[in-house]
Amino acid sequence: MAITIKPTEIADIDAIFALRNDPDVLRHQYQPRKGETPASFEKKLAGQPNVLGISFRCTSIFDDGVLVGHVMQHFGPGAEGRRRSCDCGWNLAKSHWGQGVMPRALTQLFAQLFDEDPKLVVFASCFESNHRSRRVIEKLGFQPDRMHWMVWLTHLVRSHGRRIEQYRLDRLRYRRAVERMAPPNESQG
Ligand SMILES: CC(C)(COP(=O)(O)OP(=O)(O)OC[C@H]1O[C@@H](n2cnc3c(N)ncnc32)[C@H](O)[C@@H]1OP(=O)(O)O)[C@@H](O)C(=O)NCCC(=O)NCCS
Repeated sequence: MAITIKPTEIADIDAIFALRNDPDVLRHQYQPRKGETPASFEKKLAGQPNVLGISFRCTSIFDDGVLVGHVMQHFGPGAEGRRRSCDCGWNLAKSHWGQGVMPRALTQLFAQLFDEDPKLVVFASCFESNHRSRRVIEKLGFQPDRMHWMVWLTHLVRSHGRRIEQYRLDRLRYRRAVERMAPPNESQG
């Protein structure tokens, strides 16, 4: 398996939507909203920050050149002296679950994001029932965080009552997690 990541291109969008609509993925994820189509996704990718200053990026994950996953990123501006934030959401094709692909892809992506902005704070959330995603979140070094109650309520309504958990990650915790993930070197036996 040769896992690589690249900024999402227009040619990837249909495969991303196919993945997002896969019933096995949808069980753990929000259904794309009605207005969310490949065309609107393309527009969002090419767009400028919205009125709240939030900008969007997506990263595609490939195995030997075939798209097997993606990571969506919404960047907040970090106004009034606050640190910039990046809200991440990810999906992987079922054929690739349980092989450490998402942790590998996120390790590469977060290295790039923290290089770009060492003060960035990365957020991730998952349904309470999503043990696999929570495990990925733990492996990457995230710590539990509290969602603003209004955001939490919005999620609760959108998910028809399924509870959601939020986590945060800064550069230091990411680095420590990467050290823990590194295989012991040969001299250590
Ligand atoms: C969540 C997801 C991205 C995980 O990616 P992945 O590359 O498969 O992650 P990993 O290979 O590291 O596996 C995750 C962990 O889940 C564990 N796991 C598998 N089934 C599990 C279960 N039923 N209960 C608890 N843990 C489970 C695996 O054992 C692994 O942990 P380990 O390495 O400590 O053994 C992928 O499963 C996926 O896309 N799922 C569907 C969509 C989704 O959930 N998106 C995220 C929404 S927040």
